[in-house]
Amino acid sequence: MEIRKARWITPARESGDAAPVFRRVFQADEKVEKAELHITALGVYEAELNGRRVGDFIFAPGWTSYDHRLQVQIYDVTSLLSAQNDLRVTVGRGWFRSPMPGWMNTEDKRRRNAQPCGLIALLILRRADGSEETIATDEAWEWAESPVRFSEIYDGETYDARFEAAEWQGVQPLDWSKDILIPQEGEAVRETERIAARRVFATPKGEMMVDFGQEVTGYVEFTVNAGAGEQVFFNHAEVLDRDGNFYNENYRSAKAEVKYICREGKQTWHPRLTFFGFRYIHLMAWPDEAKPENFTAVAVHSDMKRAGWLKSGDEMLNRLFSNIVWGQRGNFLDVPTDCPQRDERLGWTGDAQVFAKTACYLYDAERFFRKWLHDLKADQRESGEVGQVIPDVMPEGRASAAWGDAAAIIPWQVYQTYGGVQVLRDQFDSMKKWVDYITGVTTTPDLWTGHFHFADWLGLDAPSGSYKGSTREDFIATAFYARSTRLVIKAGRLLGEDVKRYEALYERIVNAFRKAFPEYHTQTEHTLAVHFELAEDPRKTADALAALVKKDGAQLRTGFVGTPYLLHALSNYGHSALAWDLLLRREYPGWLYPVAKGATTVWEHWDGIREDGSFWSKDMNSFNHYAYGAVADWVFEQAAGLFHDEAHPGFSELIYQPHPDARAGWLQARLETRNGVISACWRCEGDQVRYELQTPVPAVIRLNGEEKRVAPGRYTFWGPNKAE
Ligand code: BGC
Repeated sequence: MEIRKARWITPARESGDAAPVFRRVFQADEKVEKAELHITALGVYEAELNGRRVGDFIFAPGWTSYDHRLQVQIYDVTSLLSAQNDLRVTVGRGWFRSPMPGWMNTEDKRRRNAQPCGLIALLILRRADGSEETIATDEAWEWAESPVRFSEIYDGETYDARFEAAEWQGVQPLDWSKDILIPQEGEAVRETERIAARRVFATPKGEMMVDFGQEVTGYVEFTVNAGAGEQVFFNHAEVLDRDGNFYNENYRSAKAEVKYICREGKQTWHPRLTFFGFRYIHLMAWPDEAKPENFTAVAVHSDMKRAGWLKSGDEMLNRLFSNIVWGQRGNFLDVPTDCPQRDERLGWTGDAQVFAKTACYLYDAERFFRKWLHDLKADQRESGEVGQVIPDVMPEGRASAAWGDAAAIIPWQVYQTYGGVQVLRDQFDSMKKWVDYITGVTTTPDLWTGHFHFADWLGLDAPSGSYKGSTREDFIATAFYARSTRLVIKAGRLLGEDVKRYEALYERIVNAFRKAFPEYHTQTEHTLAVHFELAEDPRKTADALAALVKKDGAQLRTGFVGTPYLLHALSNYGHSALAWDLLLRREYPGWLYPVAKGATTVWEHWDGIREDGSFWSKDMNSFNHYAYGAVADWVFEQAAGLFHDEAHPGFSELIYQPHPDARAGWLQARLETRNGVISACWRCEGDQVRYELQTPVPAVIRLNGEEKRVAPGRYTFWGPNKAE
């Protein structure tokens, strides 16, 4: 990589809280035809050439396993170049030096926090005659404190618009690895939408609030007319409390504050080196009269192409679909995070694992996941153990079943949705290592026992005071052990690898599982046994699951582990009406309860806000946690009926088997697959259902108890409207 010709540089002295800005002035002759900047930093950077921003990548260089991998961005800066040039790069703490995770104080966190700020860049000026001049970071660069007086992932940003970088000082070379430098792998992070403020209002307590009407991840851009030295000061919130007052205790230790010290006159600004998850801001200081037109929320995330759409005849369901999309947008900011607001914002493996299929339907997430999986592989421990979060900023945390299984499940999902085998090639060793880790660490051969787990996290059947649902941990662990082993076998066969050892292991796990768990107790146990094909008689188990759900008042009791598969397990065995009951339930617990409470994203808890307006807790109460949004994959596959078998990844052949329900009226789904656009719609019309399908690939149609094959084309079918 060319950038390796440059040297790492750092300020010659500690810049404290202020973000340093690095500078290089240079001349360019008029023969320069192309100027290209190769750049990355230890922190997050924003580069400017002659006062104009370089590129539109926000929070570059993104978040990777920094000890092993650091992405380098390349920008064409030809149009910004002049004869006399001033290149400046401001570097904030970003993910690299922010105190993540917020609630921990570990040696590794102290190590990361003590890391230096660093910059490496190479500007290549190419002339028409083929000659080249390069300007590399070295001791000729200078640095100064920037107007960014403070910036950090959890606590926010402070900016002094009056501040002029005055004392330019020398930089010093930094002894930092160049082996970690890699080309940009992930999707660029960009500003993707601007949302005008809906209203400015005062709470009963007299707090001045701005409401954007939608929870977003990003920042607020504001315009203010002020005198020099006047202050804008606000923090962020997702919800109001029961009395309509400001509330953000659920951000925990994350301050999420923006402080801006004005210069004279009219000015527009937004934070540049950090982000927030919010719907509201609370103006603690505002020099002017606050009006909605002063404020715009800017959504920032990995700029993936949208690929899937759902729409129905039920407005609440449509709001749920929108909330799920916003959940992905708010949490796919270079890394799939649990939530964007509190002192976490971490790449929790379990959350990504349960949401991956939905994510791959809604957006083209192949590039996004492949980059993150490379980080998973880079951070995977010697033993094969996969950390709880990737990038692994909690190296002391033990792996958990269903979390660590992201190592096998996500590569397989990405392959299945998009059809490219490279993801399996890249991850195959990592997949095997994960399974081998379990084999090595378990206290009972062929089961997974004797280990820490998060269990069926947030399951509603949890004993009081616990976050862990009552499904047996060894049950979950062994079921996922079987699942990951099976995926290693499938991937290995595709890649032409010898997987005999895993085939034998899989058989032993299934036998041991059946022996150890002859009976299933909870909804999640039934669901896993059916969905992972571990039950000896899956139909009987699915029937028992349906009976159990009904006994529980047609309500789910599942947590992170069971919920994503629950509706599949039901509708695959003739209980689609019950699956629809669960989906359409407007009371707690259910997907539409938060919608009824005004949710604009998916909540961590079904009852994040209770019926009486009080909060579930102040400790673990995110209002933008995508995990339960995983239900969208059921809507695409089962409700709308668009799926494919494993032999036809990327939808090279479609299976169309919809499960309509008159309560939704109609349902339309559209998928932009690697093999073309598939769209399907059903509409309940009296005692009939009309089905429309457009398929660019051959399809197997399973309707009205019959199966037939059709060529690519547009089709209309009719069938009786009867619930299963
Ligand atoms: C996160 C979850 C995560 C969990 C581990 C929480 O604090 O927000 O989404 O998976 O910890 O159980």
